[in-house]
Amino acid sequence: MPPGCSLSVHRSRPKAPQSLLSSAIESPPLSHAAHHPRPLAAQKASALKGRVRVPGDKSISHRALIFGALTNGATHIYGLLEAEDVVNTAKAVTALGAPATRNPDGTWTVRGRGVGGLRAPDAPLDFGNSGTGTRLMMGVVAGHDMAVTMTGDVSLSRRPMRRVLGPLKEMGLEVVDNRETLPLTIRGTSHLVPMVYELPVPSAQVKSAVLIAGLHAPGETTVVESEPTRDHTERMLRAFGATLRIEPRADGKTAVTVVGQPELKGQSITVPGDPSSAAFLAAAAILVPGSDVTIEGVLVNPTRTGLYLTLREMGGDITFENEREDGGEPIADIRVRHSKLKGVRVPPERAPSMIDEYPVLAAIAAFATGETVMEGLAELKVKESDRLAATAAGLAANGVAARVEGDTLVVTGTGGSVPGGGTVATQLDHRIAMAFLTMGLASDAPVTVDDTAMIATSFPEFRGLMEILGASYR
Ligand code: S3P
Repeated sequence: MPPGCSLSVHRSRPKAPQSLLSSAIESPPLSHAAHHPRPLAAQKASALKGRVRVPGDKSISHRALIFGALTNGATHIYGLLEAEDVVNTAKAVTALGAPATRNPDGTWTVRGRGVGGLRAPDAPLDFGNSGTGTRLMMGVVAGHDMAVTMTGDVSLSRRPMRRVLGPLKEMGLEVVDNRETLPLTIRGTSHLVPMVYELPVPSAQVKSAVLIAGLHAPGETTVVESEPTRDHTERMLRAFGATLRIEPRADGKTAVTVVGQPELKGQSITVPGDPSSAAFLAAAAILVPGSDVTIEGVLVNPTRTGLYLTLREMGGDITFENEREDGGEPIADIRVRHSKLKGVRVPPERAPSMIDEYPVLAAIAAFATGETVMEGLAELKVKESDRLAATAAGLAANGVAARVEGDTLVVTGTGGSVPGGGTVATQLDHRIAMAFLTMGLASDAPVTVDDTAMIATSFPEFRGLMEILGASYR
């Protein structure tokens, strides 16, 4: 898409219950050290039916706000994900001088300050539970002559930041207190040095942080990745008017180069449905006998659809209907019908395209015939929780044999009859909670999760949408 042109036209998005929206927008980020757990149990459902929409994609929502803040104009966002993680990013760009506001019609507007034009915030920036918000904003702060303190909840404060701070320090960022986890204070510079950086881990967050810093440096900044990770930063920066080159190298790796100090232009963005949220509805439909569910308007960018590919290999009846392109991204309505599944091997090179979907895949694999072997899952250990351990423990608590062998998770399928009856420790992790609240819809006895509060960080409408399809929780 040529620079400066509108990313897409407005499409109506599902309206979340107002109470959920206002709680996501108005309440301060949960202090997870102090909050009162809200347990919930999922019980066996009868056939799930219907057509639903899921809220906007989380990765694209963060980027729409951040890139909007770096333009010299106004960016209008339709279908922004109004969940705690994204709301914290909206608050952060606002605190840096680029106000992000919700309009009465539910759209959002960001008034940008231009690349390098933000100002120091009056107080620390609190990113709550969000690794994406934190790491991408580190790339932004790196390019500004200002000191910023970043904080987060208990889960985020445990997550590794060196992977982002390392390359940004080479470009000129100073970590004032020498810390490698939140809370920490960083000082950026208006004299960043461009660099060529080979990603040591397959991470779109690290790639994006370096490319965003590169926007602020003179000359060209290159990130080299050996496995393709989600490419929303590349697609969206181009649409915002930046010059990017994406070049395959002789060694099989890909070099992504951004030309620094562009003038970015305000855009009109429609955020497609989040395939990582749709995954739970798809899983429920595939597991509950008699189900036939269509999830409309879902992002089907190939860097995000590894779960759907895997489910098809397992024998899942999944079709992408009404495939189209919107805002430079492929979109489809995903139709899922109940299916008998067989275990498969999921190769390590597929991990980046389904990195957030392994907990729910493991829950699905519990119902398949035979073993499902998921390889190359090292990155799962540093998500909102150690998802390898949390997933295996949740399965074991519900009578499913699962083992972790290094970076591999092996689930022994029951062939259809999962005992359930256990309580899952969610470890402050929204996706662990949702994965097991999905498994319980088809288990013999209810599956309880110890806390549902974290679901609001990414998918506040989870329970409401599941109930529209016919699921029941208590
Ligand atoms: C994201 C990248 C992934 C993913 C996260 C969102 C992004 O993290 O797990 O939910 O928007 O760039 P990593 O880059 O750490 O793999």
